[in-house]
Amino acid sequence: MSVILALAPLVAAVGCGGPEREIRSSLSNADRQRFDLGQRLSTPCWSCHDLYGQQNKVGPYLAGVYGRKAGSANFPGYSQAMRSSGFSWDERSLRSFLLDPNRLVPGTTMVASGPRGPAEVDALVFYLKHVSQAVSRKLRNP
Ligand code: HEC
Repeated sequence: MSVILALAPLVAAVGCGGPEREIRSSLSNADRQRFDLGQRLSTPCWSCHDLYGQQNKVGPYLAGVYGRKAGSANFPGYSQAMRSSGFSWDERSLRSFLLDPNRLVPGTTMVASGPRGPAEVDALVFYLKHVSQAVSRKLRNP
């Protein structure tokens, strides 16, 4: 764990074309650690989701997901459960979904996604929120 945490800033500094670098430089040390942990925990998500653009994969694109109505991206593969869930993605709903997708959206086709416990899910949501908001701004003002 500590080795991975020590490497995370390095990985983040090398970057991946996203807004991470800019976001990190605006954060306090404690928040930067949270952000880096969240980024590390998000790695498995990107085989099924696009965070930077609007490409659909196995799952809907997550660019701009923060504040978006659940099940409302231009993605044909949503479950009926997600389409008709009727809430928006905020810190609370993301935390709940990422800890236990099927509990928040019974019948969702997304299975458990990785974070274990409150500290991990908090970091993951912190990361998603920051990147998603930066990407939304970029998509609005390219
Ligand atoms: C194996 C593929 C897969 C992985 C890995 C995965 N997801 Fe998903 N995700 C999906 C699918 C499929 C859906 C659509 C579920 C539905 O319609 O019920 C989804 C839906 C979502 C949604 C709702 C989006 C919307 O438009 O309403 C969020 C948020 C989300 N995933 C976040 C994540 C995060 C964060 C991770 C990593 C921790 C992750 N997912 C990992 C397949 C995946």
